[in-house]
Amino acid sequence: MRFYIKSYGCQMNVYDSQRMEDILTSLGHKKEDNAENANLLIFNTCSIREKADDKLFSDLGRAKILKDKSPEDDFIIVVAGCVAQSRPQDLLARHPYIDMILGPQDIQNISDRLGDLIKNKDLDTLVLTELKASDKFERFNETDPLTERNVSEFLTIQEGCDNFCTYCVVPHTRGREFSRSVKEIVSEAKSLVSRGVKEITLLGQNVNSYNGLDDSGENCRLSRLLWELSSIDGLKRLRYTTSNPKDVDEDIAKAHRDINILMPFLHLPVQSGSDEILKKMNRKYSRERYFEVIDMLRSYRPDMAFSSDFIVGFPGETDKDFEDTLDLVKKVKFSQAYSFKYSPRPNTPAAKMKNQISEDIKTARLQRLQNLLNQQQSDFNSSFVGRQVEVLLTKEGRHSGQLVGKSEYFQAVTVNNADNLDIGDIVKVSITNAVSHSLIGETHEC
Ligand code: 5AD
Ligand code: SF4
Repeated sequence: MRFYIKSYGCQMNVYDSQRMEDILTSLGHKKEDNAENANLLIFNTCSIREKADDKLFSDLGRAKILKDKSPEDDFIIVVAGCVAQSRPQDLLARHPYIDMILGPQDIQNISDRLGDLIKNKDLDTLVLTELKASDKFERFNETDPLTERNVSEFLTIQEGCDNFCTYCVVPHTRGREFSRSVKEIVSEAKSLVSRGVKEITLLGQNVNSYNGLDDSGENCRLSRLLWELSSIDGLKRLRYTTSNPKDVDEDIAKAHRDINILMPFLHLPVQSGSDEILKKMNRKYSRERYFEVIDMLRSYRPDMAFSSDFIVGFPGETDKDFEDTLDLVKKVKFSQAYSFKYSPRPNTPAAKMKNQISEDIKTARLQRLQNLLNQQQSDFNSSFVGRQVEVLLTKEGRHSGQLVGKSEYFQAVTVNNADNLDIGDIVKVSITNAVSHSLIGETHEC
């Protein structure tokens, strides 16, 4: 078949979509970049906030029009991912033309069941939402990546989450925490590097509690996994995300000091700077502990840059709680950040809490927080003007002769004089300009 995949939400979904693409391609199906040219449409969905849901429903409306118009006998619509897992019945009731519903840990079944659907047109929608991460990775291991890879790629090392933050839908959509074995991860990393990948970002909802088995059957911590991967020939950069501050230990800080391909940048979501709200969120750390973690990392790696996630307007958040968040931001100084209005999610404890915050207050608080975070990002970037940074070039720039890449600190950098450079090169760039969210510079090595 000719398939089109649209991925919503997080990087774990990007990785899952890529692996579905590998499986389908290995069976002779052909990828299309445009839904209009496909007869198998796959929506790999996200339910982290309500807005992500809304996007899916408008896309499904368009998919139905394509299906109705299609002259072909076989036209299949698949909804995969987190919405599929959390609300299959709702999807079926509102969109009965969906042919297959696959939870995030059932996506490996995508190809096996296509045949059934094609042969038997009257088959009810297939719903697979079993949440067995081990099955998923077994299948992934069998399918060596076939499709093209970029120079910077993701590698999922862990699925699911056991933390149960009260606002979060993930434990309900991706299930309990499951860590892949060291051997599987190293082998997948080597396979990526042999395809030209220079930078790997290890993925998981909570990578700092990674505890996969090593070859001798012992549990292995993230820091040791990073050491194992650091010896792969040809791998130039390592990153990992996402970390929960409660699980960051000294070994990780040492890894940032001692592993030269481990980048000096960490995404460390704090969510709120108020102890009261952190307790209500069930985050299991205090603002003091967050400061300690940042200080510890900076003591081992003084140039470490930090990004974070914030939720404003969590139920019961007072002006004082919000001021505590602003105060934390001022003290830590982030190099970049994501911030969101709290969005009540089905079946989560916070959705049932009293004192939900009005939309107006959420909007005003988000604006103030984003103004501060934008200012910090801009200050951070401006401090690089006149300095040199090392950049991994990942894609073409907007104008000819330009290539764009990422600094070690995860800043986007445009290189103006890149005529003799290639995607995948790592070059020293002298920064001449800082614009809102990125840097501009020139290299002297071409
Ligand atoms: N409402 C708003 N933001 C949320 N996030 C997770 N759940 C919610 C929610 N219900 C944010 C958190 C998390 C990021 C991936 O999404 O900040 O770190
Ligand atoms: Fe969205 Fe979370 Fe699922 Fe990722 S794991 S797709 S962020 S709901």
